[in-house]
Amino acid sequence: MVKITFYGHACFGLHMGGKNILFDPFITDNPKASSIMIKDIPCDYLLVSHGHGDHIGDVELVAQIHHSMLVSCFEITQYFSKKGLAYYHPMNIGGSKSFEFGTVKMVKAVHSSSFPDGTYAGEAAGFVLQNEEVSLYYAGDTALTKDMELLGETTVLDLAFLPIGGNFTMDVFDAIKAAKMIRCKKIIGMHYDTFPYIEIDKQSAIEAFAKEGITLILPTIGETIEF
Ligand code: NI
Ligand code: MN
Repeated sequence: MVKITFYGHACFGLHMGGKNILFDPFITDNPKASSIMIKDIPCDYLLVSHGHGDHIGDVELVAQIHHSMLVSCFEITQYFSKKGLAYYHPMNIGGSKSFEFGTVKMVKAVHSSSFPDGTYAGEAAGFVLQNEEVSLYYAGDTALTKDMELLGETTVLDLAFLPIGGNFTMDVFDAIKAAKMIRCKKIIGMHYDTFPYIEIDKQSAIEAFAKEGITLILPTIGETIEF
């Protein structure tokens, strides 16, 4: 069984293959996630999609407390290793690697990527995670792109995390097109409501997906769902 916990914005914890994986930690500087304590988030592997502050804010803190392994693009692992992060695994777009919990493939996202201090952070990415139990796609911050069709052709997905907040990423309507392109009927929405620029009407988002026969799940911060 796979357990998914929402920690706000684009940060999700996964319990998969007996390990705890955390995507894009941004808790300390997210006022909406003030109920979340980083020390209580189990994290063996930290997967980071790109270098923007709302995705890397708590990388060092999480890694320090939980001795997590950072899995990200080469530039991001280099950046944090120079800051003293001990465990990391560099990858790049198109590459796959097998870990204790399953395989990770780093896939393209259409977005920019630099650190808050201006350092180049490589290419923005998404991840496909697979093991015997589950196959899922974490899109990161991305625009709608025809590459998603390729993902739908090559990979059977049980579940996908897609940004839906617009302005910086896909909005609800592009995310519906993305869900069709990746051929996935169960979507967890992310990257909405954290800032005024990306506020959405959640109920109409759920209805718009439902009209196309797709389930949009919008967990509350701190909520755990089993899959
Ligand atoms: Ni971003
Ligand atoms: Mn972002």
